[in-house]
Amino acid sequence: MNKPVENNILEVRDLEVKFFSDEGTVNAANGVNFKVPAGKSIGIVGESGCGKTVTAYSVLQLLPSTGKITNGTIKYQANDGNVIDLTNLKSESRAMRRIRGGEISMIFQEPMTSFSPVHTICNQISEAIMLHQHLSKQKARLRAIEMLELVGIPNAKRRVDEYPFQFSGGMRQRAMIAMALACNPKILIADEPTTALDVTTQAQVLKLIQGIQDELNLSMILITHDLGVIAQMVDHVYIMYLGKVVESGSVYDIFDRAKHPYTRDLIQSIPKLHGARGERVTSIAGTVPSTYKLPKGCAFHARCSDMFGNICRTETPLPIEVGSDHYVSCFLHSREEGKNNARDAR
Ligand SMILES: Nc1ncnc2c1ncn2[C@@H]1O[C@H](COP(=O)(O)OP(=O)(O)OP(=O)(O)O)[C@@H](O)[C@H]1O
Ligand SMILES: [Mg+2]
Repeated sequence: MNKPVENNILEVRDLEVKFFSDEGTVNAANGVNFKVPAGKSIGIVGESGCGKTVTAYSVLQLLPSTGKITNGTIKYQANDGNVIDLTNLKSESRAMRRIRGGEISMIFQEPMTSFSPVHTICNQISEAIMLHQHLSKQKARLRAIEMLELVGIPNAKRRVDEYPFQFSGGMRQRAMIAMALACNPKILIADEPTTALDVTTQAQVLKLIQGIQDELNLSMILITHDLGVIAQMVDHVYIMYLGKVVESGSVYDIFDRAKHPYTRDLIQSIPKLHGARGERVTSIAGTVPSTYKLPKGCAFHARCSDMFGNICRTETPLPIEVGSDHYVSCFLHSREEGKNNARDAR
C-alpha cells in the first residue's frame, strides 16, 4: 500500500483482460487507462463489445472464472486513505467484499440478473445493509424503505415486501439504484443504467442518479453507448474502441473538438433533431474486428476514413496530449504534433 499521489479515487492503468476457452483467447481489454477524480463523474463510451462491462467487472473483481486480468493496475483510494491495487485482491477476500457493495457499488446492465427472483426487495437491500453497515434487521429494513423513497418508489413501506417481478422495469431499475446506494458507497459504477427503459423513464432515472450524485458527493463511472446521455451527465469522457481508450477529454473536447476519427464518427451517428427532413442517420462503416485476433497497427484502421499511410496498418498509436487533459491515440495527430510522447503524457 502506498499514499495517494493525486486526488483520484480510482486510477486504472494498462488494464488487460482475457477470456480463455477452447475456441481461443478473447482479448476483451487491451490496455485500458482512466482515472476518476474524487466527487467527479466520468463516462466510458463505445460500441457493443468494446470492453466496457469487462472493465467495470475487473474493478469489482467480478469477472467469471474464465476471465483473467493479465496486466495492469487498478489503484483505489480506500476509506482509510491508503491506496490499494485491487488487482492484488482475491475476489472473495474479506477486503474485496468490504469494498464491493460497501465502498464501490454497481448498477448492473441487466437488473433482473442482479435481483434474485425468490427474495423480496426488502430482504435483498437489507442483506447488503446488514453486511456492510452492521445494522440490525429492523434498522436495515427502515433504511431500505428510506432508500426506496429516495429513488421515488411510491408507497415504499408496502412495496418493500414485494418480489422483483411485481415491479415494472423502471421500478426495478430504481430499486437497483436504491440497493447500490444503500451502503453510502464512494464510487457508483452505472453500466447502461437506462438502456432498457422508455425515454420518459430514462430521463427520470438519469435525473435521479444526478441528484443523488450531487447530494452524496459520489464519484461516478457512467458506462453507455449513448453519447447523448454522456453529454448531460459527466465531467470527463473516455472513448473506447476494441478494449482500449482511444480518446479522452472534457465533454466539450469530445463534442466540439473531437480528434479521433472514431469519436467523430460516433458523434456523426447521433440522430439530429434539427437535421434536414429525409436526411439519413449515418452509421460507422464496417464492423468491429474480432477480439480473438487483434488487428495489427491501429485497431480502427480498417474502418477509418482518415487512414493516411502504412503506419496506421503496422504500428500502435500511443496517446498524445492535444489539449489540456485531452488525449488522443491517432497517428494523424502525432504526425501533426511531430512526435508521439505517449507514456509521460498520459
Ligand atoms: N464471459 C465471457 N466469456 C468470453 N468472452 C466474453 C465474456 N464476457 C465478455 N466477453 C467478451 O469480451 C468483450 C467485451 O465485452 P463487454 O461485455 O465488456 O462489452 P461491452 O462494451 O460492455 O458491450 P455492450 O455495450 O454490448 O454491453 C466482447 O468481445 C465479449 O464478447
Ligand atoms: Mg456491457
